[in-house]
Amino acid sequence: MALERTFSIIKPDATRRNLTGAIVKKFEDAGLRVVASKRIHLSKAQAGEFYKVHAERPFYDELCEFMASAPIVAQVLEGENAIAKNREVMGATNPSDAAAGTIRAEFAESVGENSVHGSDAPEAAAEEIAYFFSGLELVG
Ligand code: CMP
Repeated sequence: MALERTFSIIKPDATRRNLTGAIVKKFEDAGLRVVASKRIHLSKAQAGEFYKVHAERPFYDELCEFMASAPIVAQVLEGENAIAKNREVMGATNPSDAAAGTIRAEFAESVGENSVHGSDAPEAAAEEIAYFFSGLELVG
C-alpha cells in the first residue's frame, strides 16, 4: 500500500488539558508521521465552514462554539493506510464506545468534546488538508 495522508485536529478539550504531546505520541507510536502541524485559534465562522457538512445536525451550533473555545492543533499525518490507521488510533466518536487504549477512550470527555478529529475518506482528507495548509507547509 502506498503512503497516504490524512487530516487531524487535536480539539480544544485536549489542548486545554495540555494533552497535545500525549496525543501526538499515540499517532507516532502507531507509525503515523506528522508532516505538517499548526496550533491556531479558530473563529466560530471558520469552525462552521470546516464542519459545514454537519450544518443541519442539532449539535452543529454547540460543535462550532466548542471548536472556537480554545486553540486547536491542525495536523497532516502520513503513513501506510493513514486514514484508517488514524481512525483506529482515535477510537469511536463516542468515548463510551471507544476501544481500550485509543485516544478517545483515554482522553475524550464526551461525544462532543472528544479530543480529536480525523478525516473519514480520501476526498475529505484532501479537502480538509487544503482548508488548513498550503502545499508549501507539507514538509514530510
Ligand atoms: P468529529 O470526528 O470531529 O466530526 C463531527 C463531530 O461532531 C464529532 O467528531 C463530534 O465531536 C461531534 N458530534 C457528533 N455527534 C454529536 C452529538 N450527538 N452531540 C454533540 N457533538 C457531536
